Amino acid sequence: MTRLVKSSLARLAAHHAALAPRRIADLFAADSTRATRFSRRLGGLHVDFAKQKLTDETLDLLLSLADAAGVTTARDAMFAGECLNITENRAVLHVALRAMTDRPALVDGRDVMADVVIERERMLAFAEAMRNPATCPIRHIVHIGIGGSDLGPACAARALKPFGAPHLTCHFIANVDGADLCEALAGLEPAETLVIVVSKTFTTVETMMNARAARAWLAGHLGESAVARHFCAVSTNHAAVAAFGIPPERIFGFWDWVGGRYSLWSSVGLSLAILIGATHFRAMLEGARMVDDHFRTAPPRDNIPLLLGVIGVYHRSVCGYASRAIIPYDQRLARFPALIQQVDMESNGKSVQADGTPVDGPTGPLIWGEPGTNSQHSFFQFLHQGSDIVPVEFLLAANPTNADGDQHDVLVANCLAQAQALMQGRNRGEVEAILKAQGMDDAAIARLAPHRVFQGDRPSTMILYPRLDPAMFGMLLALYEHRVFVEGMIWGINSFDQWGVELGKERASALLPALQGKAAPAAIDGSTQALLAIVAALRHG
Ligand code: F6P
Repeated sequence: MTRLVKSSLARLAAHHAALAPRRIADLFAADSTRATRFSRRLGGLHVDFAKQKLTDETLDLLLSLADAAGVTTARDAMFAGECLNITENRAVLHVALRAMTDRPALVDGRDVMADVVIERERMLAFAEAMRNPATCPIRHIVHIGIGGSDLGPACAARALKPFGAPHLTCHFIANVDGADLCEALAGLEPAETLVIVVSKTFTTVETMMNARAARAWLAGHLGESAVARHFCAVSTNHAAVAAFGIPPERIFGFWDWVGGRYSLWSSVGLSLAILIGATHFRAMLEGARMVDDHFRTAPPRDNIPLLLGVIGVYHRSVCGYASRAIIPYDQRLARFPALIQQVDMESNGKSVQADGTPVDGPTGPLIWGEPGTNSQHSFFQFLHQGSDIVPVEFLLAANPTNADGDQHDVLVANCLAQAQALMQGRNRGEVEAILKAQGMDDAAIARLAPHRVFQGDRPSTMILYPRLDPAMFGMLLALYEHRVFVEGMIWGINSFDQWGVELGKERASALLPALQGKAAPAAIDGSTQALLAIVAALRHG
């Protein structure tokens, strides 16, 4: 973190302290234009951050922070294909996957757009062939992959199911727990099944074990020769895929400059493309491209990902909020919080800066969430009356994807009401008046009132859109990707590596021989040894 960034944060901290006594609701009462002035629009997307505790001065200070951190310069470097992922020596160019051919995308000085278009068209042509029921027997897609090779396609397939071919079902298998694959394969007709193995490295243990098990299942039913016809793969490691027995025409590639968690836009989206078809897949890319163009060109004050990013840093580095809840009031986005968990936490869950020195302060928050209204009946108690303040991001479609009578009105009313309740709360006087009107005596009121008070003044952002369609899904995901970029740049971290997942993987491979009784567990710590012994006893008990 540079001296400039630190002094920007110090100014924001002083400002935050000065603003503390003012309530968000009072800021609205004092300014009838607040809702408009603190909202931004892009196409059908409407982002309302007026329920954040911020003023024009806050915004000025936040934009100065972005300026001090060189966010727009870093953004331009990303779009120019510069090597931002310095620990892996890679460019960060997932934006090229949704770019138009009229703009070159340079990696090491070479325009990669032609490669991108060729691979995209190959993948989409294959997808179209696989989804044509007149010529292709496939009815079930089994997508095997984990992390970035699972979450994006799985989330999008669920979100965009209404746009999918009705004769196709899509199953996503990630967990090495055999229950995941077993459940998915149960009842599937092998002759009607296409297995897509998605792994950037084609070495990930979970994916390879699931792929081998699926292969054994298929070969067991249809013979070994069927593997080449019923499997395909998406990877950057063609040699390993070929060794697995998948022919070259069924291998779809992408590039090392596409991070796993940013890879939905590439051939990694193959299962989704088969489900929704090339036209809808392209619409999703177009939605993302619209956000890319906006992020690249809009002035900071109107730049939605940049604004969300600086507000995120404000929450974490100045207000001290440790987590952020993402609550889609859109059942089809049920997996969106999990997807953003990886996009955000694998990117910004770091404690050292790009130059290897410790970050001076907290970085990426804990991301969590579940769809509303279900979550109202689980953790909203915590959001309203818990001791921690959790900024909430609501995602809300104005229109339903399915015709559902009045149900969507109830959904919308609940979403708006939750944001309103978080902001306004209910003070002691209001509670007492309500209880009195209910005929309660003074003693009972005194006893109950503290439990019924809502502090309120809890910030939220409302992200509204007309309806969830492929383009809007692309916009939403790209919006979050760029916001994570902005936050990472301000904290000075490399948002594009993920060394933090390695140690656990190494330890798991080291423990396996001991678990299977093939090696003496001597070099293992006492705690793990004891646990291994208990597992062994439970297995034999
Ligand atoms: O768990 C870490 C990770 O490397 C993720 O970043 C990635 O999305 C996932 O594993 C899967 O990796 P691969 O696509 O190589 O199988």
